Amino acid sequence: MKVYALLLLLLFFLFFTSIFGDLGLKLAKCQRKIVKISNAKCGDSNQCSNVGMCQFNKPNEDSKFIWPNLPTKLKKHVVKRLDYVSRCRLRKCSTSDQELVDSCPMHWNGIYVSLTQASLHIRFSKVVTMEYFRKNNDRIEIKFIEGQSFCKKTREVVDSKLNHYNVGIADFLLMLKNQSTTCQEINFQNLESIDTEDQYRFIQSLLFHLSSMNSSWKIHSKKLYTSLVTTSSQLLDILSFFCPNTLKCITMKEYSFNAIETKALVNTGHWRNAECLDLQHENNISIAEFLHSKTFWTVVPKLEPSDAWAVIENYREKDGRPRGSTFYIRSISPLEIQNILNEYDVPVDNMPVESPWRKDSVLHTQKFPIAGSELVLVVMLMKFEITGKLCLLSNIEEDCYNYYTADPDLD
Ligand SMILES: *[C@@H]1O[C@H](CO)[C@@H](O)[C@H](O)[C@H]1NC(C)=O
Ligand SMILES: *[C@@H]1O[C@H](CO)[C@@H](O)[C@H](O)[C@H]1NC(C)=O
Ligand SMILES: *[C@@H]1O[C@H](CO)[C@@H](O)[C@H](O)[C@H]1NC(C)=O
Repeated sequence: MKVYALLLLLLFFLFFTSIFGDLGLKLAKCQRKIVKISNAKCGDSNQCSNVGMCQFNKPNEDSKFIWPNLPTKLKKHVVKRLDYVSRCRLRKCSTSDQELVDSCPMHWNGIYVSLTQASLHIRFSKVVTMEYFRKNNDRIEIKFIEGQSFCKKTREVVDSKLNHYNVGIADFLLMLKNQSTTCQEINFQNLESIDTEDQYRFIQSLLFHLSSMNSSWKIHSKKLYTSLVTTSSQLLDILSFFCPNTLKCITMKEYSFNAIETKALVNTGHWRNAECLDLQHENNISIAEFLHSKTFWTVVPKLEPSDAWAVIENYREKDGRPRGSTFYIRSISPLEIQNILNEYDVPVDNMPVESPWRKDSVLHTQKFPIAGSELVLVVMLMKFEITGKLCLLSNIEEDCYNYYTADPDLD
């Protein structure tokens, strides 16, 4: 019986290798070749090298296996394995390669867009960094870590005001153009202190490019982090280009919203759907507006004891949030510790635990068990801060010690 099974297996094996083996082997070779070619340097940085002209042993030996003649399905498999730089190089080879690359959606771990005094950095999935330099005469110098050109074909670049921001942003958006492309995180930040004027120019340029995308186009990113100096209304505009169903985490530094903008912000689908909200600047958004999220950080002018209690009650709900969910509220005026403790509906009991906070800064720690659950809510009061975290009862020390963050791992 065993022998028959083995024989049958062998037969199947022979059958499949005879049909697909040849093609499979060639493709494997092809992928190696492409990766190899794409690691080589191009002579003229704006010209297509022979990327994609994937040739085997001898040219013309078998024209079926020349890159342009491979079936699209196979080519797509290859493109999916290419990194950012290789995709860009292939994209510039021909119209069909451009269409091929654009029709292969990507999954980026993160895209980090950073401003420095002299340049715009764009880092794709922590692997490839492109740097677009400012030049006095407005010519742009573009440098990849591998010393290559950028992603657009010459005839695609129609912008007359070709400063380094415009080129960088155009490349950045090109990589998000396909609506099946997803991204774990998009991050806009300054790497050094920069003229506000420059940041303003960058945001203007970004908004210009965003609004020239197809009207239904959205960025499918799970997280948005921004610390660029901009007006809060521009920030709301940028937010509107993110898909509200995909976006789960919003971190914003350096913004103050007026009453109208605050209302607009909390009414966006993005805010309503968010699982983590992280506002690191003083704001007037009421605590109740944060309570649908799993984790939030905020800074308020003054925290009312009744609000502090409302948060504790909300986090203590049975079958509510998962382990690790955290809240952190900083109040500009000192907390009324005694008044907060007076709100507690259980005997007040200070039971300190190890935490990342300085021991002498934590004035009171209370553990709120959650009935019928393995979780316990650990609430710490400090002079200006209240923070709480859902920890596993059997693992309190470790759970509490893990760094408090507004940025939990999603999914
Ligand atoms: C995006 O990718 C899909 C494949 O998932 C493809 O069918 C579609 O044509 C692409 N869109 C564009 C604009 O190329
Ligand atoms: C915009 O998107 C729609 C639907 O996806 C498509 O039919 C149309 O061709 C796109 N327009 C442009 C200018 O890309
Ligand atoms: C909050 O609201 C008060 C009263 O309307 C106002 O004086 C204060 O500037 C606001 N603070 C912020 C950070 O918006």
